[in-house]
Amino acid sequence: MVSFDSASGVLFSADAFGKFGALATCGFYGDEDNDWACEGRRYYFNICGKYGAQDQALLKKVASVPVRIIYPLHGPVLCKDLGYYIGLYNTWSSYGVETPGVFVAYASIHGGTADVALKVADMLRAKGCPKVAVCDLTRDDKAEAVEDAFRYGTMVLAACSYDAGLFTPAYDFLHALQMKGWQKRRIALIENGSWAPSAGRVMKEMLSAMKEVEILGEPVTIKSRLKPEDMPALEALVNTVLA
Ligand SMILES: Cc1cc2nc3c(=O)[nH]c(=O)nc-3n(C[C@H](O)[C@H](O)[C@H](O)COP(=O)(O)O)c2cc1C
Repeated sequence: MVSFDSASGVLFSADAFGKFGALATCGFYGDEDNDWACEGRRYYFNICGKYGAQDQALLKKVASVPVRIIYPLHGPVLCKDLGYYIGLYNTWSSYGVETPGVFVAYASIHGGTADVALKVADMLRAKGCPKVAVCDLTRDDKAEAVEDAFRYGTMVLAACSYDAGLFTPAYDFLHALQMKGWQKRRIALIENGSWAPSAGRVMKEMLSAMKEVEILGEPVTIKSRLKPEDMPALEALVNTVLA
């Protein structure tokens, strides 16, 4: 629920248009910082991400009133370029692609899967992919991984097999995406296993429960370490991702 004061043109937007770190980055009641979207996006997808339909309904109402200032519950007061913030919220809440590029996320135990994922990232860059964001799911900020999964239209997810299942950081990540309503995205999978690879099966099962998620081909299987004979399959994956 939000409130609009027609006398002053202030939208009291509750959770919408908020973010953390307002006092640190902007000064109390100061101007918006230069990179509002960085933390604003992480906040949005990790807190409101599942409620895109409700946010779309709200944005339609907001479009019908002359908003001059946005006062979120927490986050900087927004006074300038409101179209910029409202435009980003429109993209985010409709699950549109904000930034052209590919998100490469990996979960590796001993480093072999990491090597494969980093190789794929290099191949994507070499083929002119406009932006390649990379995340180590065992070490990097989980909320930023969720953010980047929504930011880009295509993901490459590489993960190890783990006791006939999926290595837990990748499992947790996909579970978070399920909970946040991740949708309208393309994903290519790479599994690593040493004796009976199982990561690809579990990733496919988890993704099949999500709305409008297209799995690009079959998972590429690596046995422990990347070998020269694996390269054609990786080349094909990269070409499909960029197609
Ligand atoms: C606890 C544990 C469980 C594993 N379970 C499986 C498994 O069920 N099937 C399999 O093929 N490999 C299994 N592996 C091997 C890994 O999936 C993988 O081959 C190996 O970790 C190489 O990838 P990495 O270098 O990225 O860690 C297991 C490894 C560990 C440490």
